[in-house]
Amino acid sequence: MREIKRIACVGAGYVGGPTMSVIAQKNPHITITVVDLNQARIDAWNDPDLNNLPIYEPGLDAVVGEARGRNLFFSTDVDKAIAEADMIFISVNTPTKTYGKGKGQAADLKYIELCARQIARVAKDDKIVVEKSTLPVRTAATLKSILDNTGNGVNFHILSNPEFLAEGTAIPDLHHPDRVLIGGEDIRAIEALVQIYEAWVPRERILTTNLWSSELSKLVANAFLAQRVSSINAISELCEVTGANVDEVSRAIGYDSRIGSKFLKASVGFGGSCFQKDILNLVYIARSYNLTAVADYWEQVILLNDHQKERFAQHIIKTMYNTVNGKKIVFLGWAFKKDTNDTRESAAIYVADHLLEEEAEIVVYDPKVSAEQIYRDLDYLGTRSPSENRRLLTVVSDPYEALAEAHAVAILTEWDEFKHYDWSKVKDKMKKPSFVFDGRKILNSKDLQDLGFQYYAIGE
Ligand code: NAD
Ligand code: UGA
Repeated sequence: MREIKRIACVGAGYVGGPTMSVIAQKNPHITITVVDLNQARIDAWNDPDLNNLPIYEPGLDAVVGEARGRNLFFSTDVDKAIAEADMIFISVNTPTKTYGKGKGQAADLKYIELCARQIARVAKDDKIVVEKSTLPVRTAATLKSILDNTGNGVNFHILSNPEFLAEGTAIPDLHHPDRVLIGGEDIRAIEALVQIYEAWVPRERILTTNLWSSELSKLVANAFLAQRVSSINAISELCEVTGANVDEVSRAIGYDSRIGSKFLKASVGFGGSCFQKDILNLVYIARSYNLTAVADYWEQVILLNDHQKERFAQHIIKTMYNTVNGKKIVFLGWAFKKDTNDTRESAAIYVADHLLEEEAEIVVYDPKVSAEQIYRDLDYLGTRSPSENRRLLTVVSDPYEALAEAHAVAILTEWDEFKHYDWSKVKDKMKKPSFVFDGRKILNSKDLQDLGFQYYAIGE
């Protein structure tokens, strides 16, 4: 196996961009080119002003600033990067299918297949191809079938190297991963990738498995994480009717080292581009093997999450005297979690959609999400016309302006700044009674009640 001197990464998104930036930062002797078809995205990665990178991720600007132009490059010339690379990461999107067989559940692998065909067409010397995208188990067999049938004598080794970073903490997650997982068949190809990570990850944290275990482990890790959120969210509803407090329950059970304290924060529902998509994919795979009980079990995680989003919206309506028609409800937060500008599958979208059906007047403030993105998210649902969405929902850049004369505040994202608002001043500006619906449990109920708010938090 030749030494890895050049890496190409196809897909300059939330995973490809940060992951390759850190690999480049830690391996200055390897030249890494991240390529994408999206010219605007590549332009943003190349923007001299590091505040304009296409994704917001704390600490990313410093890493890109260190490596870009040295051994890290962003380009739209996919063919050239593939041709020159010794190792090619595939980091393209793998959304849920929106058409045909498996619609709404199976992963859409068209981008993956296009990549594989492009690699097959362009490659003139041996390559290691690394699956970085999250893929259905056994996708490597598909890749192999495409790559091994070019007839041009090029040898391909396929590795699975799923990514476990979470958005908002991508840089610390990449710098100090709990583990790096590499699945493969060829020991020398595996070792080549191990060496790249060994530049900063302790060897004992680099796990190697066969291809299928690695591919499946990624889906299972996300399923387990999402299952914890749905489990605690199910308990949050029980807390609300019994007088228990879900934060206290989380703390009480989390002290048990077998359960652990992380990922037990009740919320308005999990979002993000992956939890739902990956569980749906797992469910689809189980069903395709006729494992009905397995599929039903995991599907429940999604159903409970849908229920949690809906019941938050319903609770707002019920509490506000069964009508929100014409009432101004301020959404604090639109991103699916704090410290990211990503809104994919954010609970805010679905809560807004429910309330807009009831003709609420929604005003959104999010410190990192643009108005264009918010309207794109709503329009994508297709529930009502784009002009209706713009008539009923406005986006502001000053939260205090938004709160004037508001009937209610709904907290949809746990941005730290919301905790530090002058809630007494907020109360003065709002209509009375002033409602706060805290979908993230970031405020103190006693403080808010003392200020005279009608305060509702998930799980209290
Ligand atoms: P993304 O949509 O942000 O980025 C994917 C990029 O690939 C896009 O910019 C798209 O233009 C580009 N692309 C698609 N087809 C291409 C092609 N043929 N040639 C060149 N570019 C192409 O997606 P993402 O969030 O980075 O996710 C990528 C993969 O990583 C998915 O499989 C996802 O499940 C997985 N993943 C995501 C996260 C996360 O936090 N977002 C974490 C772990 C794993
Ligand atoms: C998640 C996983 O944590 C990553 O390991 C994985 O790599 C990634 O998916 C992926 O495959 O895309 P991410 O979705 O970026 O990362 O963010 P998380 O921190 O997992 O949060 C997901 C959602 O769950 C958010 O909406 C968050 O608010 C919610 N959540 C999380 C809760 O409601 N409660 C919790 O206790 C934890």
